[in-house]
Amino acid sequence: RAPQLRTATAAAVEGPPSARSQQGEYLTTAQGARLYDTDHSLKAGEHGPTLLQDHHLREKITHFDHERIPERVVHARGAGAHGVFRAFGAAEKVTKAGFLRGGVETPVFVRFSTVLGSRGSADAVRDTRGFATKFYTAEGTFDLVGNNIPVFFIQDGIKFPDIIHAAKPHPDREIPQAQSAHDTFWDFVSLHTEATAHTLWNMSDRGIPRSYRMMEGFGVHTFRLLNDDGETSLVKFHWKPRLGVHSVVWEEAQLINGFDPDFHRRDLADAIEAGAYPEWELGIQIFPDTPEQMFEGIDLLDPTKFVPEELAPVQPIGVMTLNANPTNFFAETEQIAFHPGHLVPGIDVTDDPLLQARLFSYLDTQISRLGGPNFGQIPINRPHAPVNDMFRDGMHQSAVHSGVAPYKPNSLDGGCPFMAGAEVGAFVEVPVALEAATKLRGAPATFDDHYSQARLFYSSLTVIEQDHVAQAYTFELGKCYEQTIKERALGVIANIDPDLCAKVAAGLGLPAPKPSVPFDDAPMPSSALSQIGAQWPV
Ligand code: HEM
Repeated sequence: RAPQLRTATAAAVEGPPSARSQQGEYLTTAQGARLYDTDHSLKAGEHGPTLLQDHHLREKITHFDHERIPERVVHARGAGAHGVFRAFGAAEKVTKAGFLRGGVETPVFVRFSTVLGSRGSADAVRDTRGFATKFYTAEGTFDLVGNNIPVFFIQDGIKFPDIIHAAKPHPDREIPQAQSAHDTFWDFVSLHTEATAHTLWNMSDRGIPRSYRMMEGFGVHTFRLLNDDGETSLVKFHWKPRLGVHSVVWEEAQLINGFDPDFHRRDLADAIEAGAYPEWELGIQIFPDTPEQMFEGIDLLDPTKFVPEELAPVQPIGVMTLNANPTNFFAETEQIAFHPGHLVPGIDVTDDPLLQARLFSYLDTQISRLGGPNFGQIPINRPHAPVNDMFRDGMHQSAVHSGVAPYKPNSLDGGCPFMAGAEVGAFVEVPVALEAATKLRGAPATFDDHYSQARLFYSSLTVIEQDHVAQAYTFELGKCYEQTIKERALGVIANIDPDLCAKVAAGLGLPAPKPSVPFDDAPMPSSALSQIGAQWPV
């Protein structure tokens, strides 16, 4: 017998649209019964004892007991804002993504974060900053989950638990903020030399931004774009702040953290409240999509490398304005769930092994952080495009689905009769030819160079900025207890720059080792200069 199509009881079950938010003139229980007193529990006489019968007391306390959700396993501390992204149209030649067509405006929510501190930690610490943007496009949600540093510590996501375990507080003392007071962090990055460039960026002034409004953002990985003609290109995404890139110096950061640990959070909210809306231009570096996926000797699938802007200029494709603060921090900033796999037609991922692991990690962690598989229904996570998936039930299900059982093919259910193809706007993975490969655990030889980009970045800094780097390494390594770790870290620094190493070694009272990786005599491009403080005229 064919199942009966269900009649519309949904409205009755769902109730009014915002049934769970504050409504009406009177204070009520969670069931909507009016209260006459929420200040005194029900007792046997004025001195008690308190009665188990007091449902209001138990309901109020029970709900309070469960107010906290786990903080993010990384990037726990953050601040967010709503805004709008307006496309210039310059990306139309390389992508068919609708929200990048000229003049299209798309609502966005951005969450900035530190990586290592807990939810209640200070803002102006030395750390990488997260710069995650959710574009609520008409073709589905696109998330650009980036950082304020263009390179990453590791080349393969399988190392992510290692770097985070090394950098998070010690398990015994839980002393916070990784890169100070921490043997484990320096132990890891001195043994795992592909982390050298990212660590150097952290030790530079980039590690202590003046404001979220004055940070660049980087997608880090290379992405693949697909245009209307079916042509592909490889790109890297960049956010450029119209206010320029600014940092504080270390002493300022110490004072700020003492006087106002919420400095960045307050700065963002105050600026938006005052109408001084921060703006960033989104830009792309475009590379030909060759089978090697290399550009000017740089492996585009190696996330420890950036491409200097002189070699591939950043082309502006749109501008983002943050113009509204969250109404409720928990509902919006805390519950938002980004995912590098949230893609729209015209934007696809590459085989970068770090990105591939991220594609698994975010959804997995959010299932436990947000209590089950239905967190996409939380208002801040709802796409602004119609959703018609076949996901049903599960914890925290708030939708009342209709129709016959969610399976396809299905001849009984009138809704959604066909699967859309690319011609009607579906996301279709770009078909990429794979080389005949042997299954192995390993990495290409092009991932072996761990120093040239650190050298490039260091040599692009001004003398004052280089001094700050020397002071930062000296201070941070000075907090290590183990002499062998300091000595090994000096060996890595010698491979960045022998003068830098000499300064840090002198500061630590240790001999400066010689570089173990020869310096190439070829002149170093000054390119990283445009990577620091880079802006185009607006
Ligand atoms: C969270 C960026 C690498 C796992 C975040 C957030 C950002 C970010 C910005 C904060 C999201 C938010 O504000 O809600 C990056 C960048 C990476 C990177 C730019 C490398 C280029 C990785 C890797 C993994 C990973 C390799 C794991 C294999 C996570 C997890 C969270 C997170 C589990 C918490 C997500 C949540 O609870 O919502 N990351 N990340 N990340 N990242 Fe990454």
